[in-house]
Order: sequence, then structure tokens, then C-alpha cells
Amino acid sequence: MSLNPFNDNKAKISSDTNPLSEQGCSLFLSDKEYSCYQNETVLDALLRQQVDAPYACRQQSCQSCLMRSLDTVPPSESQENLKETLKAQNYFLACACVPTQNMEIALQETVTKEVCAQVIEIEKLNETVMAIFLEYEGILDYRAGQTIILMNEDKLGKNYHITSATSKKEDKQLEIHIPLVIGGYFSEWIHNKLKIDDTVYICGPTGHHFYLASNSQQPLLFIAEGTGLSPLVGIIEDALESEHNGDIYLFHGTKQADRLYLVGDFKELAEYCSNFYYYPCVSTKTEGYLEGRADKIALQTLPELNNYKVFICGQSYFVKNVQREAYLAGASTKEIYSIFLSN
Ligand code: FES
Repeated sequence: MSLNPFNDNKAKISSDTNPLSEQGCSLFLSDKEYSCYQNETVLDALLRQQVDAPYACRQQSCQSCLMRSLDTVPPSESQENLKETLKAQNYFLACACVPTQNMEIALQETVTKEVCAQVIEIEKLNETVMAIFLEYEGILDYRAGQTIILMNEDKLGKNYHITSATSKKEDKQLEIHIPLVIGGYFSEWIHNKLKIDDTVYICGPTGHHFYLASNSQQPLLFIAEGTGLSPLVGIIEDALESEHNGDIYLFHGTKQADRLYLVGDFKELAEYCSNFYYYPCVSTKTEGYLEGRADKIALQTLPELNNYKVFICGQSYFVKNVQREAYLAGASTKEIYSIFLSN
């Protein structure tokens, strides 16, 4: 479906009137071949051939025409306004991409695939969060922090974030943290019925909020609320495995102390890694923890975020607030990675 309310653009571009040269290249999309004239953008070429490609502004600002190249690095001008993590996955803006060679491309929603997995371990992290460890068949090219859809054999499922470090994919393993949502059919099924050796299905991964070892000196700030910690665990692990030298701060907040999890692991990590700092925060006064919201304590501790990369994860209202706070503290919008938990 086109996002553009002014749909006369298609009519303006036809092979009869197009002044562009016939000498171009080919685009391969969903097993079909499309021509692309010289100096023609990928978006124009697809629209000319009646592909219902999404777009809106055609001026490289809305990102609704985001696509992914599956075989070649896209021209640099088509990636200019994208986050580093999108560039690393060969995403590009179709409205700004004039290919110089054949390209196999995918629309955003068709990049994912489904694999089968077995449950190899289940661990209760606290009263409401369960970690499940999966071993999957086939290939799942994931990075810690990305999103997958986890499904049972009836193909009922839900979105979750990947907790395991990216290096675990070499063993075809995946860790996911599942919060218990009272009245939520799928999370209750996992907490009450899922057993070791059960078969589940994974669809994905999607998302571009992950660690990229492009600037190992850059300070990293992680702010999580509740089970928003889950994707950040693997991203932090990725940074440490990549020998990130910049300081890494984690502020994790919950209302009550018994809702925090992995406290012992992070305290141990902070003792072991000289550049990792851990701040468990609780809304109500509790001995041994900082009192207050994680974002407030983070911004009091680090009031200037000019050079920081900031990862935020939690419910929508929390993430949106912290995004604004981080921006006002000097973080660039390109360096703020906002991960929203689904309800
Ligand atoms: S259509 Fe808006 S960025 Fe391409």
C-alpha cells in the first residue's frame, strides 16, 4: 500500500516518456526481475513497474521507503541519513538509491523468515520474568537487542527482544526473557505450560537497535525500566565482547526491589570490568538500592550526553520521556536508540 496521498507520481513515470537511458541494471525482488534505467531510483523503477512499494516524502526524510539490499552494498548517498546499524545491514532509502549494478532487494517486512527451535533450558529470574533458552535449526542471522516473534505449535505468538549476545548464534542458541502478563494468553502459556524439549518457532529478526563496534571509545548509556532490561543485557554483552573501551553505564529501575533481576550478575560484572557501572534503582526507599526512577538518576549522574550513544528500553510512555530527556541533555537523535516493549 502506498503511503503517499498524492498518488499521481506513478502516472508521471512511464517507459514511453521516461527520458532516462534504457541501459541500466536489474532489480530482483521476491524472485521477480525488474528493470532500472540509468539514473533512475529504485523507488521510481519499482513504481513504474506497478510494484506497490511504500513511500511518502521522496526527499530522504520520512524513511518510509526503507529497503534492504540482500547482495551488494547500496550506494552511499542512499544511506546518508540512516543510523549506523541500518547501514551495517545494507538498508537504504529507495527514493535516493540509483543503482550502479544489479541488486537483490527486499521490502522491510519481507526480510524475516521462520525457523524451528527446541527449548533447552528454562530459568525463573524473578516472580514475573522467565528466561528461556532455545536451540534452533537453520540460519538466524540475529544481533542482540533485535526483535523476533516467538510462536507455539499452534502458531500463536508474540514479539520479544533477543537477550543473548550475538556470539551465541554460532551455537544456534538464543535467549529470550518473557515477562508474565496477567491475562496475556501467550505469556501465561509460556510461564505455566512451556517445558524443556518443546518445539517453538521463531520469526525474524527485525530491528536496528544493537551494538556496532564502530567507535570503541564512545561512552554508552543504557536506561531500562522493568523488563526493558532484557534486550540491553545482550547489547552490553556484545559491547564487552568487542572490547569496548568507553565507559558503559547501566541504570535499571523498577517500582519494587523484587522486580529487579540479574542484580548479582551485573554487580559482579561491575567489579570485574573497570569501564562498566551498574545502578539498580527502586522507586520506593529500599536499603542497598538507589531511590528514584532510573532515568532521573541517570540524568543526575550524567547531565551531559553530548558524545554518548544512548539505549532506552521500556514501555512507550517511559521511552518517549527518556528520549526527550536524553536529547535535551545533548545526545544526538542519531545516537539515541529507543526500544519499545510490546504490551
Ligand atoms: S520516501 Fe521518504 S525517505 Fe524515501
